[in-house]
Amino acid sequence: MAPTDITKPAPPQHIAIIMDGNGRWAKKRGLPRTAGHAAGAESFRRIANYCRTLGVRYLTVYAFSTENWKRSSEEVAGIMKLLRRYLEEALQDMEKNRVCFRFFGDLSKLSPDLQKLCHDAEKRSEDYDVQVNFCLNYGGRDEIVQAARRFAEDVAAGKHNPEDLTEDLLSGYLYSADVPDPELIIRPSGEKRTSNFLLWQSAYSEYVFMNVLWPDFSPSDLDEAIEEYHRRNRRFGGT
Ligand code: IPE
Ligand code: IPE
Ligand code: MG
Repeated sequence: MAPTDITKPAPPQHIAIIMDGNGRWAKKRGLPRTAGHAAGAESFRRIANYCRTLGVRYLTVYAFSTENWKRSSEEVAGIMKLLRRYLEEALQDMEKNRVCFRFFGDLSKLSPDLQKLCHDAEKRSEDYDVQVNFCLNYGGRDEIVQAARRFAEDVAAGKHNPEDLTEDLLSGYLYSADVPDPELIIRPSGEKRTSNFLLWQSAYSEYVFMNVLWPDFSPSDLDEAIEEYHRRNRRFGGT
């Protein structure tokens, strides 16, 4: 879909977001952490829709990391329940929302019903405007390890020689195969770290760290991040 405002420069084609700050949002209101995650899911819906109207092609969101299993079993169960509900609704509204889904992460650790929902959502690839890459049980290091393992298996099976390995070939073994690297990565919540997100793909991404908590993140915050991105001078090692 074309950007609606022709006076604005085109947005990045791929934006990635670390959806952080749900717990603090809930704490500020004296609510349980799961209420923060529910508000975070609403924020995601709003921002995914807004990305579609802006003409952003890929939106990658960090929803659950390989380290997030350290949280209490109640919190993990609450997050999984919200994901299930979100995916059930998304499957019904897929045509209307013109969104398609990919999942980045080791889904084998999720419950069988959630795995099935993820696979069903991935299979449905009607005409769409935005591809949402949902990072679930995702870790950047884990992604590289599993890519290396699969390449080693292909070498053992005689499909490749070790010296065939290039950056492009390794990229093809990552969850993000065929997806261009994100130009812009946004982390709300005030934290300034990657927390194991897109370690390979972020080599030349522009980071924008913002003080807003994810449930409060609004379309105007996204506009602000995109404006900041346009002010950056990307050199890719050149001059
Ligand atoms: C992000 O919000 C959601 C997940 C990591 C699943 P947090 O739950 O990390 O919120 P804070 O950082 O504790 O505020
Ligand atoms: C990163 O946030 C993971 C997600 C947003 C899903 P965390 O809250 O887990 O990161 P840390 O623990 O602050 O580094
Ligand atoms: Mg956090």
